[in-house]
Amino acid sequence: MSTPTFRTAVVRSPGGPDSIEFIDAPVVDPGPAELRVRIAAAPVNPVDLAVADGLFHALGLINQPDRTGLGWDFAGTVAATGRGVGLAAGSRVAGLVGGFDRDFGTYAEQLVVPASDLAVVPDGLDLVAASTVPLNGLAAAQITDLLGDAPTGGNRLLVTGAAGAVGGYVASLARDRGWQVTGLARAEDEEFVRGLGADFTTRAEPGWDAVADGAVLQERGLALVRDGGAFVGVQPGAEPATERGITVVAVVVHPDGHRLGGLLTRTASGELPARVHAVVPLDHAADAHRAVAKGGVRGRYVLRP
Ligand SMILES: NC(=O)c1ccc[n+]([C@@H]2O[C@H](COP(=O)([O-])OP(=O)(O)OC[C@H]3O[C@@H](n4cnc5c(N)ncnc54)[C@H](OP(=O)(O)O)[C@@H]3O)[C@@H](O)[C@H]2O)c1
Repeated sequence: MSTPTFRTAVVRSPGGPDSIEFIDAPVVDPGPAELRVRIAAAPVNPVDLAVADGLFHALGLINQPDRTGLGWDFAGTVAATGRGVGLAAGSRVAGLVGGFDRDFGTYAEQLVVPASDLAVVPDGLDLVAASTVPLNGLAAAQITDLLGDAPTGGNRLLVTGAAGAVGGYVASLARDRGWQVTGLARAEDEEFVRGLGADFTTRAEPGWDAVADGAVLQERGLALVRDGGAFVGVQPGAEPATERGITVVAVVVHPDGHRLGGLLTRTASGELPARVHAVVPLDHAADAHRAVAKGGVRGRYVLRP
């Protein structure tokens, strides 16, 4: 009897969208506390373009001699469960796989993941929208952890890239911690940013108590922080050097099923945005990468296996 397989997108020799290949990988049974998900939706995120370009291979963060899996977040339905997992087959779930150095990813028909990395998708939230939450929602939640509670009398937070996925979530979530948020974004994004409950600017002057750098402005973002303030970046290992007593850190997103559940609930209620630009077949992953690389896309391309 032949081994069952599933289709997945990988990169063997990174070199941009043209290096994305599709292979048939053997189906694996979930171990204890794991489950296998039939993927319904997997977003294309900026990090996937960087993986396909070979950025993280060059940095020594990816060392997969055979192949590297693409894709970080997903939504789908439970296909099989390992020992100790209480979710029924067919349950709607979303989740995140973290870390660069892996030969599997979410650009796939299936995925085996720890149950603790998943959350159930609330009724009323479709799987395509839900799939766009885990990577950037959790990154933003973890950025707000790094920012901490806003100091009394020093709570002016500038979120760069506030019309993007990470920045949009930070602009929403940082208010929970007492920050008074201004979003830096393009002029055409004003309505979206103000809709998050943030103030809006297209050009920021220096003097902010803290900057959360969703636009990856790096040194230019750091220059906007007041002496002794805080800078939270999104490129770990490539943080700008600290200056003027500024605390500089960068988020390293990690799966957290419990926290994801809360983010999905807030998305289902409409409190958090879930923006989808287009849903395209998994086989069109390279085209989606090319489109995202041009910039200016609002909302995610979501791959459907
Ligand atoms: N470290 C981690 O754990 C982690 C986790 C998640 C994401 N990330 C990283 O976070 C970054 C942001 O991800 P994302 O998904 O939020 O990207 P995104 O959706 O493309 O958002 C970036 C936003 O920044 C805007 N922008 C860029 N330069 C700007 C400028 N000078 N002024 C105003 N707006 C500007 C972009 O607008 P235009 O499109 O018009 O340029 C876009 O709206 C990526 O580098 C991603 O890899 C890191």
